[in-house]
Amino acid sequence: MPAPVALAPRRPRTPATTALAGTHPAREHPGIARRSIALSSATRALSVERLNQIMADTMTLRDLYKKHHWQVNGPNFYPLHLLYDKHYTEQAALVDVIGERVQMLGGTTIAMAPDVAAITVVPRPPREREDSVSQLRRLLDAHEKVIDEIRQAARTTGEAGDAGSNDLLSGAVLQTNEMQSWFISQHLPEGPTAHD
Ligand SMILES: [Fe+2]
Repeated sequence: MPAPVALAPRRPRTPATTALAGTHPAREHPGIARRSIALSSATRALSVERLNQIMADTMTLRDLYKKHHWQVNGPNFYPLHLLYDKHYTEQAALVDVIGERVQMLGGTTIAMAPDVAAITVVPRPPREREDSVSQLRRLLDAHEKVIDEIRQAARTTGEAGDAGSNDLLSGAVLQTNEMQSWFISQHLPEGPTAHD
């Protein structure tokens, strides 16, 4: 008869994970579909809520870049026209990844403009054209507000044990916003001295 295999002791859960793992994985949180990814529905519901906030903010930033791409004028028209469209494309790519992550976790991604407008932290810009310096300052302010939300969401999902969401938020999402904020700051009149 073979000797019994010694099982490695189970790694204790962190306090944060224990607090959020009170719901058995098989018992679903309301509005959260079942997923077999070893995360409780309560943890996934928390991540979905945080990711949908970042989704709304990212969709708003994406659209703000396209607005400015179309409406920019003045002596820096050409480089700003191109830069805004590059950043728009990068934000659009983030929107798709965040939206799919929400669905992957069993949630329902926020998608339509009225729902986005209701929760985004980015202030609504005027419908009319703004001068290019106002556009840049608006974008810089929007990035800082969104980056603050991203950092909080990354912290929350990390502490809850959702490594995938934490990785997405603190990797691609945060670093794209930090990079874009830097590029935008360099085009401000005070940029080379105040934002070097
Ligand atoms: Fe265009």
